[in-house]
Amino acid sequence: MNIIKNLDSPSIFIGKQGNGIISFGSGQPDLPPPKEAIEGIDIRHDLRYGLIQGEVVLREALSKEYPTSTADNFVITNGASEALDLIFRAIGKGKVLLPKPYYYSYPPIIKLAGMEPVFLDLKEGRIDLSDFNKKVKDCKAVLINSPSNPTGRVEAIETLKEIESLTRKMNIYIISDEVYKDLIYERENYHIKGEHVITVNSFSKTYAMCGVRVGYLWSSDQSIVNKTIAIKTHTSMNTNLVAQDMALGAMNAPKEYIINQKKIWRQRRDSIYHGLCELGLDLWKPEGAFYVLPKVKKPKELVWKLYNDFKVITYLGEWFGAPDRIRLSYALDQNEIEEGLSRIKQALKEL
Ligand SMILES: Cc1ncc(COP(=O)(O)O)c(C=O)c1O
Repeated sequence: MNIIKNLDSPSIFIGKQGNGIISFGSGQPDLPPPKEAIEGIDIRHDLRYGLIQGEVVLREALSKEYPTSTADNFVITNGASEALDLIFRAIGKGKVLLPKPYYYSYPPIIKLAGMEPVFLDLKEGRIDLSDFNKKVKDCKAVLINSPSNPTGRVEAIETLKEIESLTRKMNIYIISDEVYKDLIYERENYHIKGEHVITVNSFSKTYAMCGVRVGYLWSSDQSIVNKTIAIKTHTSMNTNLVAQDMALGAMNAPKEYIINQKKIWRQRRDSIYHGLCELGLDLWKPEGAFYVLPKVKKPKELVWKLYNDFKVITYLGEWFGAPDRIRLSYALDQNEIEEGLSRIKQALKEL
């Protein structure tokens, strides 16, 4: 059964494009970055080693977005991915509570740091506080991702506040992965706060700059910031300086950039959500990010058939801890979404 052999991980699909392929795979925005990200880069100035913590100008610009913080509270990283890796290694041993389905890199990052993932059951795609209360007691950290990849769900502000205050009282860290914070369709982001909170963010999604690899972590706990800098000193060293210049440029883009992107994502959300409902699939309506996670019969066979016979890439729910589902990213053009939906309709008929 080469189906099973070939679908071990998303790496077989990441970066695949062209040749008539329609990819609902990677969460990579197809929209252009702001022009400010590309203008005025002085490459010659960037051919040196930089500060491990990140360029001061970028950290100062970020500190304006986080009330009461300073440039010292940030570490600029190779995407949110490196921020997550540094944080768990800095925290060290213990259990990490996280919702399941999860972003597929979370369990490996946690395990590589020597920590143990513990999974929360979701109710209608959102955190069930009674399950949270039961499982949080012997954990060292909680990982929150709202809006979520892969569910597209956004946690209620009351839930986030409850988690914020409970973990504060119990002296448990919250790692809040907010890479989709600018992609919430119905309200503003609620930024979880406190001495025990470490926020992770990225320029990949908000500014459509995935390949540039700039993200950051934020914490008001200076000991966490210092530990992550100490690890980064001996691993990746400074984050690419050209990329940091681009990130700073992107932050100078007018606010309309983000507002306009959000409008486009909402239209695409409506199109794919209604399209999949019409095909009879059971799925949660995304409230943020750009993913849907429908339930399907025979997910492995479907993902494989879609790829081999219809040149459509989708991801197996199993990679996200949801074996009865498949995940689709709608970070692609409206025409491609429509063509992809019609190929999915055909594949479902033939399965
Ligand atoms: C929830 C979540 N966190 C982190 C990342 C990694 O982002 P970055 O490109 O900044 O490393 C992703 C990428 O898809 C993601 O979905």
